[in-house]
Amino acid sequence: MNDILKKMKRRGRRIVALTCYDYLSARLLDDAGVDVILVGDSLGMVVFGRDSTMAVSIDEIVHHVRAVKAGVRNALLWADLPLCSLKKGVKKAVEEARQLIKAGAVAVKVEGGVARVPLVKAMAAANIPAVGHIGLTPQFADRLGGYRLQGKTSQEALKIVADARALEKAGVTAVVLEVVPEQLACYLTTRLSIPTIGIGAGKGCDGQIMVQHDMLGIYWYVAGKKAPKFLKEYAHLADVISSAVANYSGQVRRGTYPGRKQTYRLKRSDWLVVETALESQCQKRRPGGAVSRRKQNR
Ligand code: KIV
Repeated sequence: MNDILKKMKRRGRRIVALTCYDYLSARLLDDAGVDVILVGDSLGMVVFGRDSTMAVSIDEIVHHVRAVKAGVRNALLWADLPLCSLKKGVKKAVEEARQLIKAGAVAVKVEGGVARVPLVKAMAAANIPAVGHIGLTPQFADRLGGYRLQGKTSQEALKIVADARALEKAGVTAVVLEVVPEQLACYLTTRLSIPTIGIGAGKGCDGQIMVQHDMLGIYWYVAGKKAPKFLKEYAHLADVISSAVANYSGQVRRGTYPGRKQTYRLKRSDWLVVETALESQCQKRRPGGAVSRRKQNR
């Protein structure tokens, strides 16, 4: 299934990828023809409101993979292996990667380069397709000097190239390049046989990926943080959502929602029948006309 992407690379057809965490968005993305849908560990930030992706658990990703899978018809569904799984060692990490496949993913993305080779090989042996993720790997941002451009110096660039080559040799089906200079991304894209998917890596990659809530203009606005340079908002849904909610709140408070159009009403004659039945039931219950509980239960 992941061979589709290699074919796209060979044919020069750019790969469109987006993150997703729920059924309805999955339906929309899939219907719009997105090639790859990733249940990323960015869900720690955009769904759970945490400061980083580091504490995301395998159960959280599995839960969202199931939701997204329900809405995917044609796209390839990838899922992130969270940092918590990587920390448990190769054997356990493979078991947890398998949980993602069972939940509906067709490939599992792992952050890190040369250090991930034993895991990628073990995943291949267990028939679990792996996707690499190098450059700025958010799970290890603290070791990389924060969320900053990677591969600026020859030494850093050499390491990224070595990471990419090692992952390719170990059998990854594609590699995500995050926040690296455009020239380095082009260098890798023309030298690797596997597709490169860029995020903050310029337009020379075989495809692009973005966090859905970033490109829809929700996350950075709500988080009140400065968006990264590579981000482009294709909509500003934060405003659309805020004004719809303000409108609804105003109408509820003024009593103009629900209006006649949104209300179920019986014909006057039908309501009279129902009302009479309700009233006579009430009268039986009143002291004097009350029905005993034993009688009611019969
Ligand atoms: O978790 C995520 O959303 C990702 C993408 C940004 C590539 O890893």
